[in-house]
Amino acid sequence: MENKKRILTGDRTTGKLHLGHYVGSLQNRVKLQNDYETFILLADVQALTTHFENPQLINGSIYDVAIDNLSIGLDPEKVSIIQQSQIPYIAELTIFYSMLVSVNTLRHNPTIKTEAKNYGYDDMTYGFLGYPVSQAADITFCKAHLVPVGDDQLPHIEQTRKIVRRFNDLYHGNLIEPEAMLSSTPRLMGLDGNAKMGKSLGNAIYLSDDADTVNQKVRSAVTDKSRISVKDPGHPEVCAVSKYHQVFNPGEYDNICEMCRGSAIGCVACKKKLSETLNALLDPFREKRAYYEAHKDVVRELLQTGTDKANRIGKETLQEVKEAMSICLK
Ligand code: TRP
Repeated sequence: MENKKRILTGDRTTGKLHLGHYVGSLQNRVKLQNDYETFILLADVQALTTHFENPQLINGSIYDVAIDNLSIGLDPEKVSIIQQSQIPYIAELTIFYSMLVSVNTLRHNPTIKTEAKNYGYDDMTYGFLGYPVSQAADITFCKAHLVPVGDDQLPHIEQTRKIVRRFNDLYHGNLIEPEAMLSSTPRLMGLDGNAKMGKSLGNAIYLSDDADTVNQKVRSAVTDKSRISVKDPGHPEVCAVSKYHQVFNPGEYDNICEMCRGSAIGCVACKKKLSETLNALLDPFREKRAYYEAHKDVVRELLQTGTDKANRIGKETLQEVKEAMSICLK
């Protein structure tokens, strides 16, 4: 176990996770958990960078996000779930790394730019601008080799790699340069036709949604607007539902498209098929979720054990970093 390479990845605790997260990163976590020693970070400090005015939301989401991760089949015997704010070594590493990153580099980070625009920041906080540095500390405190993430996170992994290279060059350090691992599935669009499924966009199907909610969300999905009746030939290439069949129902996808074009299936039946597929995926998750919801003490214990382990490892890494930088009493 201890000789395995490590994975670190995680989520901001700003609300429940949805199918976009599942397709983009969660699925990979499950696949890789046997081959890597895995750490799942509940990024509550990073959540503060955008939601500092609503700390209750962040706190309330810690269990939600932990249970989302457990519900999809991450095995608590194999995976450590850890709480960022309770690992002071991450904060300390952030300070040391912050000397190695220029403000201009952070300002040019494409994900920072997009998020700042979406949140309407014209004068962003120091904490927000600097979160990629703190994310480098998240990844390197445990010397993770691999970081399964969605493509919006690539600039941050690149930033981490730069910090690691600079640190190792300047101080002859032994930090590991991590690799990003992207999902092979393209980004999931919103059922409303928006390019992205997002919490803030109000178009998400949550892992915690019950079957009725999923049915209702799928029923209201945007399809081919030019198709008024079943007799009109459909255009799957412009239909959000077809994109979902492609991701969640790949075996039937070609057939469904052909039936749609040939008027052999209407939108109502096609949506029903999709709801069934999604509910079949989500049902086992719902069962696991129900267990953990009813046993919050078990979840609490898991977070404590995971976080303790992270602190043992983080302490060593910080010591190494300080020694390399000659920040110690001789
Ligand atoms: N930035 C990630 C997100 O918004 C969350 C995150 C924090 C993360 N620290 C990380 C992801 C370290 C991967 C590795 O979802």
